Amino acid sequence: MNPNGTLDLAADPGGIAQAADLLRQGLLVAFATETVYGLGGDARNTEAVASIYAAKGRPSFNPLIAHVASAEAAQRYVEWSKRAETLAAAFWPGPLTMVLPLREGHGISPLVTAGLETLAVRVPAHGTARALLSAFDGPVAAPSANPSGQISPTTAEHVRAGLDGRIAAILDDGPCGVGLESTIVGLSGEPALLRPGGVALEQIEVVLNTQLHLHQTTDVLTAPGQLQSHYAPDAPVRLNAASTQGDEVLLGFGPVQCDLNLSETGDLTEAAANLFSALHRLNTTGHPIAVSPIPDHGLGAAINDRLRRAAAPRDSGSGAPSAGRQGQRVNTQRG
Ligand code: TXA
Ligand code: MG
Repeated sequence: MNPNGTLDLAADPGGIAQAADLLRQGLLVAFATETVYGLGGDARNTEAVASIYAAKGRPSFNPLIAHVASAEAAQRYVEWSKRAETLAAAFWPGPLTMVLPLREGHGISPLVTAGLETLAVRVPAHGTARALLSAFDGPVAAPSANPSGQISPTTAEHVRAGLDGRIAAILDDGPCGVGLESTIVGLSGEPALLRPGGVALEQIEVVLNTQLHLHQTTDVLTAPGQLQSHYAPDAPVRLNAASTQGDEVLLGFGPVQCDLNLSETGDLTEAAANLFSALHRLNTTGHPIAVSPIPDHGLGAAINDRLRRAAAPRDSGSGAPSAGRQGQRVNTQRG
């Protein structure tokens, strides 16, 4: 707990300088990125990283993403490769995270990687996130700024609702533009999709000129922290619903009669940006949530991934496997 309460910092030079100072002191700052709000701490400071896990109530075996200001900065911590260079040139700064082998002398706390020999690195595109990373001038470990297992935050208000009093400050810069977490690509072996997200799989495959392997729920032991229920509202969630049953509210997509529409025109980018806000809002109604079918291509794959896990059984770590591309390729990551 933070006895002084959680500061609200404006996304101006003063607020950014103060946020960087708090990070230097080993304290936690939630900050806007283009995907979702991150809960940042100095990735080299084990106490700071431990307090991230404590604030989120996150299982400590689940590793974190290190956020850095540039591809050059990333190369201080990981072993670079031709493929990493290609993806960085195409998608950084932006909603793509790469998992690469740790480099000797990296200085990253082992709590960030949960003891793995690899590190997830990302260069965010958001102006405020970039300004903070430049001012801090070091790697910032940042999971999504929500209590573990709950809906990811796309506004400062979402962060405050979940973490008020548990973190030093929130660097508020309005709603996040992409609205879904970054796509995670594993590059320590054959290229693999570890989590669908803000960059579509199809785009990555075009740039790399190869198909990505997809993690399956049976791969669970190769990546730590894999409870399937996640992004979960309090109420039950039912997918692929043509209409409501009982006292459900309908989260629509496309031209349907519903309580809240992700995108009336059926635009997947707009739907991704609205997804977590919509779940936060419908969660306050107390009603079970039914969701219209969403096409499974482009950003739809990431939207469906989050929705499947919002709908997954809550009481055990092994929900029913969810279908990915070709009914096989599924994501097992949990954040
Ligand atoms: O868009 C995002 O990626 C946001 C913003 C804040 O940047 N961050 C985010 O972090 O979603 P988080 O902690 O909620 O999700 C990170 C995911 C987890 O599923 C974790 O298991 C995976 O990244 N991960 C981190 N390091 C890994 C590694 N070395 N190998 C495999 N998976 C890793
Ligand atoms: Mg998360």
